[in-house]
Amino acid sequence: MILVQDQLKDQSEVRIDIEDRGYQFGDGVYEVVRIYNGQYFGMDEHLERLERSAKEIHMTLPYPIELLKTRLEKLAEANDINDGHVYLQITRGVAERTHQFPAEPTPFLVAYARKSPRPENKMREGITAITTEDIRWLRCDIKSLNLLGNVLGKQKAMDAKCDESIFIRSNDIVTEGSSTNVYILKDGEIFTHPANNFILNGITRRVVLELAEEAGITVHEKTFNKQELMDADEVIISSTTMEVTPVISIDGKQVGTGVPGKVARTLQEKFNERIDKLQSVKN
Ligand SMILES: Cc1ncc(COP(=O)(O)O)c(C=O)c1O
Repeated sequence: MILVQDQLKDQSEVRIDIEDRGYQFGDGVYEVVRIYNGQYFGMDEHLERLERSAKEIHMTLPYPIELLKTRLEKLAEANDINDGHVYLQITRGVAERTHQFPAEPTPFLVAYARKSPRPENKMREGITAITTEDIRWLRCDIKSLNLLGNVLGKQKAMDAKCDESIFIRSNDIVTEGSSTNVYILKDGEIFTHPANNFILNGITRRVVLELAEEAGITVHEKTFNKQELMDADEVIISSTTMEVTPVISIDGKQVGTGVPGKVARTLQEKFNERIDKLQSVKN
């Protein structure tokens, strides 16, 4: 079953109009929310960010967020998801193709739930990355359906047989990964790009910053450049799907000693404790 507007439907019943503005312009916003043990992780924060993203593109949600929350719970239950995620998108709806907003937009919401395992191997062994120019627009804080810059970045990493692209703006500042936030550790302290228009303020990022504080690790929400990235003692990425994952090499050069570092392990342990605290709705 999938969620269409506020109704659960069989996927075969659903047709997407070719004049949906999401399809034609990428005119819409989205979220991905993780489900652990039958429970959503950070749902309120994801929905708040969804509301903010919509507002930033002058789009109203088709119905109130509280109702959406209950519908998403039904969606996870109907698909019997224990470990998985929900993908949710809202477009500006169907209208004759003109760039400007339609006079009376009809926002269109679709969400589906999928079973998906946690990336255990990558989290344990670490991932490899390349650096590439950040060619995206200047509103990366909006979780918009327009992901071409991210898509091209990720593909470049795949072509190089790596897992992730770390983006660097033309001013030499490291922003984030193609679908992750990036942190470096130097002399026991964490640095990560401030949550401004150059990055998506990840829900996992917010958790990581809390966990670091709990662990007594100083965090600086401060920019760093490519050389500082390459000289870091540890590099870590985070996202809803990749959780907290160490980066063990960048552009073919090993990070630190070339194996996952102590701080990555500490944050992973603390992240697991957060997940363990979730009470299953099924119990
Ligand atoms: C560009 C970008 N940055 C950061 C993130 C991490 O955000 P979150 O932790 O909310 O998944 C994502 C996730 O998709 C992303 O696409």
